[in-house]
Amino acid sequence: MASSYSQTIEALSISLTNHRSHYTLVAAAGISLSVSLIIRALFSNRRMEGRVLNSPLAAMQSPNTNNNEHPLPLDVLPGARDVQTPYGSIRVYEWGPEDGSKVLLVHGITTPCISLGGVAHALVDRGCRVMLFDLFGRGYSDCPSDLPQDDRLFASQIFLALGSSPISWTGAGSGRFCLVGYSLGGGIAASFASFFPQLLTALVLLAPAGLIRDSHISFRTRFLYSGGLPGRLLTYLSGKRLRAGPLSTPKSQHKKFHTRDALTEEIPSQTGTEAQILSRSYPNVTVPAAVLWQVNNHDGFVHAFVSSMRYGPILAQRQRECWERLGRYLTEQKKLPAPVQKLNGLPSDKVIIMCGVTDSIIIQDELSTDANATLGNDVIFKYFSAGHEFPSTRYDEVAQIVSDTLLSNA
Ligand SMILES: *[C@@H]1O[C@H](CO)[C@@H](O)[C@H](O)[C@H]1NC(C)=O
Ligand SMILES: *[C@@H]1O[C@H](CO)[C@@H](O)[C@H](O)[C@H]1NC(C)=O
Repeated sequence: MASSYSQTIEALSISLTNHRSHYTLVAAAGISLSVSLIIRALFSNRRMEGRVLNSPLAAMQSPNTNNNEHPLPLDVLPGARDVQTPYGSIRVYEWGPEDGSKVLLVHGITTPCISLGGVAHALVDRGCRVMLFDLFGRGYSDCPSDLPQDDRLFASQIFLALGSSPISWTGAGSGRFCLVGYSLGGGIAASFASFFPQLLTALVLLAPAGLIRDSHISFRTRFLYSGGLPGRLLTYLSGKRLRAGPLSTPKSQHKKFHTRDALTEEIPSQTGTEAQILSRSYPNVTVPAAVLWQVNNHDGFVHAFVSSMRYGPILAQRQRECWERLGRYLTEQKKLPAPVQKLNGLPSDKVIIMCGVTDSIIIQDELSTDANATLGNDVIFKYFSAGHEFPSTRYDEVAQIVSDTLLSNA
């Protein structure tokens, strides 16, 4: 058993050496990710026994760590705090004027919340108060190993993050908040909004998961995620990812959705000319480098990734009910005058979906068809000539749309 694993690792290493010259930094992130996933798989059973898999936070706080040279410095975004909870520690960032419109941002399956750092800074530039947090098992948040990463766990985590703020994000006088979710975070946000629309001023979904059609999940992926063994699964997905070549390969549209896509689609290509400043304190922080570090150093990441793929708000098959619940709420809201809608919570004209036209996971036409069918036809769609990674490359435009939505009184 162990020897077959080490053979696999050896094979991977050979292939890594032979092709090294072809790989960009982005690709290197993917390779290490694959190798690391396999290594983790070896130890996964042992590691799952503990209730909480710790983030690399403690290691970072040791005096030997050079924070400035780190791929994800502890103060990568302003207003950092670590919130102790029964599920483990959660990393939260919150800054901007206390009386500004409040915006909570929820990130995707692979990258820590720094992927939305550009959007967050741009929102604060426009007068907003922002909050971001690392989902369980990513960045500097621990991972409860014995709980599925489904919308119950994510809703709890949102409340834990909100409750840790020195100012009030819910209740009378709070002004409510705008919820922004990207990719998996979009599925999380749609689910949250369907249960708690009274807490929201607006709902903004960036290339949201949650309505991915079942037909786009390849049979093998579906089969494996429906109850396969984690070890075998990880070997499968890692080997598969490695053979797929550089992550920056142009991705064709309308193909089947494979596991490797979920691992890599949020990672922007670094070959583009667009400057990506996700952290203003550390302008050289990049998503690929942060992900590479996370995969190699966060004991909870593999569990979090696999569990989110298996139980998270991704597939329409499981999530359609949530979107329909939200749709029924919006239909009722629409019957009321605008000021009354606002008093109730999320107004029917404040649901925005943004999407990249070349995104190969979240297909533009299908998303708009399925979102219209579940939410009614009031959703406002905005399209970017970009792929799935647009929130970490086109953050100023994204922030402008969010800000316009919050300011408009229509
Ligand atoms: C990133 O920038 C910081 C601060 O400007 C600098 O100290 C550090 O050496 C840089 N790190 C890398 C990896 O270039
Ligand atoms: C969804 O509804 C919007 C708003 O009415 C409309 O502009 C768009 O064409 C619709 N999309 C599809 C695919 O039906």
